[in-house]
Amino acid sequence: MPEETTSLYLIDIGYRAGLIESQRECIYMSEEGHERLQQLVPSVRRVEPRDGRFLLKKTSRIVATDNATGIGELLARYIRPATSFPLPVVNGSGGGKSDIFLGIDGDSESDGLGFYDESYTCRSGDEGCSVRAESDHGLARGIQTLRQLFPPSIFSASPVEELEWDIPACEIADKPVFKWRGMHLDVGRHFFAPNQVCRFLDHLALHRYNRLHLHLTEDQGWRIEIQKYPKLTEVGSVRDATLLGHYNDKPHKFSDVPYGGFYRQEEIRSMVAFAAERRVEIVPEIDMPGHMQAAIAAYPELGCTDMTIKPRCTWGISQHILNPMPFTMAFIKDVLDEVMELFPGKFIHIGGDEAHKYEWEESRAIQDRMVELGLKNEGELQSWFIGEIGNHILANGRYFIGWDEILEGGLAESAAIMSWRGAAGGISAARQNHCVVMAPNRYTYFDYYQTEDRSNEPLAIGNHLPVEMVLSYRPIPDELEERYHKYILGSQGQLWTEYIPTEECLDYMTYPRACALAEVLWSDGMDIAQFCDRLQFHRRRLDMLGINSHPKP
Ligand code: ACM
Repeated sequence: MPEETTSLYLIDIGYRAGLIESQRECIYMSEEGHERLQQLVPSVRRVEPRDGRFLLKKTSRIVATDNATGIGELLARYIRPATSFPLPVVNGSGGGKSDIFLGIDGDSESDGLGFYDESYTCRSGDEGCSVRAESDHGLARGIQTLRQLFPPSIFSASPVEELEWDIPACEIADKPVFKWRGMHLDVGRHFFAPNQVCRFLDHLALHRYNRLHLHLTEDQGWRIEIQKYPKLTEVGSVRDATLLGHYNDKPHKFSDVPYGGFYRQEEIRSMVAFAAERRVEIVPEIDMPGHMQAAIAAYPELGCTDMTIKPRCTWGISQHILNPMPFTMAFIKDVLDEVMELFPGKFIHIGGDEAHKYEWEESRAIQDRMVELGLKNEGELQSWFIGEIGNHILANGRYFIGWDEILEGGLAESAAIMSWRGAAGGISAARQNHCVVMAPNRYTYFDYYQTEDRSNEPLAIGNHLPVEMVLSYRPIPDELEERYHKYILGSQGQLWTEYIPTEECLDYMTYPRACALAEVLWSDGMDIAQFCDRLQFHRRRLDMLGINSHPKP
């Protein structure tokens, strides 16, 4: 905090030519309450303090334009528990001095790829409080900032007495730098129940994320009910045992307790609705042609050998891979038809990573199939496979995205790339005019350790990704020519869950690194000392929410 009570500090946090038109301004004032204006995570583009404050009272209402009442109800549900105020949501075009007014002024058109105008403004003072946006997506981000403007106890799930629920008088104008601001969650290695996923989603929404990439299928477990193929969950969702300790520790030891779980379709629908209410899109991933051991265990006709297999009990990558025969291609299309029916978002993820080709090389039938299809090698076969499935998704009016391995053997038309093995795949795809989500392991794999000294850390997969390094990340690579920058949609954090068995552990690995990534994606990052200072304050909010965040820094 600055010492002088009246000083204004103009902080330039830098800007990226072409992405931000004006320098981000943050004007500081050290009055009581105004401190909160500096403590938003992620920070906002422009905030100006004014004199006075807005005070929420027992009689306050949330007044919303017709198209904003749903978000008004959400805001009311967020702030009723701590305040115990009734906060009725009413229709109207303006509120009184104790009311919160929510207005949507535009018509919420998507850009065709499922991205919306997410800008909003917020004004608060003695005369009242309002959040306005061009679209419902902008308003959904605005109410998350509004929550953070209240004292941190607003995040309490139970009533907090004798506290003034005020917001410092201010004017905020905000919008994000990147369109795709996501988090990935692997529910294959460890399963997270629908209520846990919703809690996770709600915390992402607080940080103005807009994508949750759900990795729904793995060698170790198939987690989504597919009505046409019931054995996928009957057989594929349960493994006989789970590895204890680290995969590199030999000999392997196991807990011989069956481990399972999957989402029924009605549970998927309710998670999608929960996300949609917060204007977060769930991007489903069905990983193929590798990472399919659980599916092959359920339907052996999908595989390449006569071996009897079961869902995998250890970590690491299975060598079992789908065959590229007509039955399998029809099966995948059927699965995706149900997936597309359940998930209304534009992007469907089809994996494509780490597909070991050994079984394709060894199988006479598959070598014959390659000849029949006129393909020269297994890389081309993978490319053909992805292209076939991709075309099915495109024919249904959606886009498909895959890990950067789908570049090998030729990039299918209209494919978007998720670049995880560094930035090279993303750069190559962007130069071919394909959309890219940057997910380089070095900066965005939140399953890595957070501190160099592992002695006090729970077991993790390895490596080291401290929060400072996340904050230093810039999704647009320096070497990418400016004309291709528009193809870099944004980035996301990865939570592979081999070593993340519980919700408590999930929180620990996610926060505060997800706060730093939100800062990078919404606000283009910031000075680390400044960010850590804000994080200290923000931890009060995380604590109120019961988030078991990592203590550093
Ligand atoms: C990956 O980490 N296999 C995408």
